[in-house]
Amino acid sequence: MCGIVGFVGNDRAIDFLIGGLEKLEYRGYDSAGIAVLNNNKFTVNKTTKRVADLKTKETEKLIGNLGIGHTRWATHGKPDLLNAHPHLSETQKFAVVHNGIIENYQSLKQELVAEGYTFKSETDTEVIAHLLEKYYKNDIKEAVKKTVDRLKGSYALGILCSDLPDCLIAVKNFSPLIIGVSENANVIASDITAIVPTTKKVIYLEDEQIAFIISHEIIITDKMGKPCKSEVSQIDWNVESAQKGGYDHFMLKEIMEQPNAIEQTIKNRIKQNEVYFEDFCIDEEKLKSFEKIQIIGCGSAYHAGVVGKYVFEEMLRIPTQVDIASEFRYSNPVINEKTLTIAISQSGETADTLAAIKEAQKRGSFVLSIVNVVGSSIAKASNGVLYTWAGPEISVATTKGYSTQLAVIYLFAVWAAKRLKTATKEELNAAVEELIKLPKLVKEALKCEKTIKETASKYKDAASVFYIGRNLDYAVSLEASLKLKEISYIHSEAYAAGELKHGTISLVQDNQLVVALCGVERLFEKMLSNIKEVKARGAVVFSCSEKANKQIEREAMINVYIPKTHNLFTASVEIIPFQLFAYYVAAAKGCDIDKPRNLAKSVTVE
Ligand code: AGP
Repeated sequence: MCGIVGFVGNDRAIDFLIGGLEKLEYRGYDSAGIAVLNNNKFTVNKTTKRVADLKTKETEKLIGNLGIGHTRWATHGKPDLLNAHPHLSETQKFAVVHNGIIENYQSLKQELVAEGYTFKSETDTEVIAHLLEKYYKNDIKEAVKKTVDRLKGSYALGILCSDLPDCLIAVKNFSPLIIGVSENANVIASDITAIVPTTKKVIYLEDEQIAFIISHEIIITDKMGKPCKSEVSQIDWNVESAQKGGYDHFMLKEIMEQPNAIEQTIKNRIKQNEVYFEDFCIDEEKLKSFEKIQIIGCGSAYHAGVVGKYVFEEMLRIPTQVDIASEFRYSNPVINEKTLTIAISQSGETADTLAAIKEAQKRGSFVLSIVNVVGSSIAKASNGVLYTWAGPEISVATTKGYSTQLAVIYLFAVWAAKRLKTATKEELNAAVEELIKLPKLVKEALKCEKTIKETASKYKDAASVFYIGRNLDYAVSLEASLKLKEISYIHSEAYAAGELKHGTISLVQDNQLVVALCGVERLFEKMLSNIKEVKARGAVVFSCSEKANKQIEREAMINVYIPKTHNLFTASVEIIPFQLFAYYVAAAKGCDIDKPRNLAKSVTVE
């Protein structure tokens, strides 16, 4: 997500703006910019490199004490200087920075263009700058009120008007925005990380609130202009814990962000109970030309692809193969122009996946990528892209990246099933309803945290852990096992439960921890037999299923239950307890959870 800072006070604005943006760098960004009011004109400086590049001889000379700044995480429009914030209005009277998504920006843009406004960027944000100018008749409150009335979606705004040299305006709706209060200056930021070095007195703006901030007074109203009460809170976080939102590690913060990340990924793609992809690269005719789906990815992205195989084959009845990208690229794959290749990658920079894409394209295959970073190498190399909107993922071990990949897989499956007529209207409606409920169900699944934390402390010294499952449960066991290995350094193996008896069960001995994933209801009885099988060899069984079941409680020593969802979407709720299990085992062992040994967040080497 983007980062916003703003300053009005006795000192130079530029020092807080750049210092504040540097504190927000941890959120990830692909461009940054500042605007400072100097002699009733805005000086704007932007970069697609690092925040430090905003420090130039020119900006160092800026003495203005009113300014705004922004780090951009691109959602609409590629990461370049034209799309970087702040955005100025037609006559450069207004400067705006924005975090969020204006859902109706296309229609607003058309209206403004028809009225003669010229747009320089592809962003949704620029419409706000022009609307302010359109409605400004020397009454700033009226102009802001009318502008906000036109906006639909999520937004945190920092606004400046060159007629008001000591007034910083902040508007909040869904995206976070905080005011920092001090004797010397008042500031705004997207999170307290940027505020803490200046002041620990803050006002948390609420949705649909507008703040008119001058150096010695703050007026807060609702969107109708009615004054709102506000209270100043004293915070006791330091910068580092602020960056983690109060959690001990980014990984736990990102695990907890999953309901919101899934909602951000899904909500603008379901309209009137149908899945809808804006400007999609595949039309019905092209979709029908595909005779095979080939999925490629690495690590957790590959594991999401294994889920995709089961989902696509069940919903689309198209043969679907999933391969590890580094294997695919050297295997002389049997694909052609009738193959849809789907490349999955959180970072969009994984070298093996990028190389595999080129191999697929050499053979005539159309490549659709599922990526979390707008404008990344994989997004640019692909023939089409469906973005996950998880926001920046800092922890090396992916959690919200993986779960939003699953969400896009489900969306694509429902979108395609309607066009291929491989599902009835009722089946499609049921699937869409479950998709809309998914964020709530994932939030429900997170409630097992306390049980998991207790279980994790008991097994932190385990020598090895087996994860077994069938069908979608097997796909989840792959990801559950990798999570444990990469952050706790405990050896673990994911195994197709039906395959155990063909050799690996010889490893099961007294007190061996075996995690049995039993989310696929139609295979529950089969899993129960596998639980008995390993228990008979001395295993301690930790089960996960959709409902409390007397039989399983008799057999398994530890049981965790997940909310019921669409039979094809189980992976999204079932992975939650095992992300938490890996996290708490690693925490109990004192591991470097966000930066595990030997690992990098993005593997850009082969
Ligand atoms: C996941 O927790 C690991 N960090 C790793 O397996 C990762 O999924 C893999 O390197 C692929 O990365 P990508 O999704 O950015 O392409």
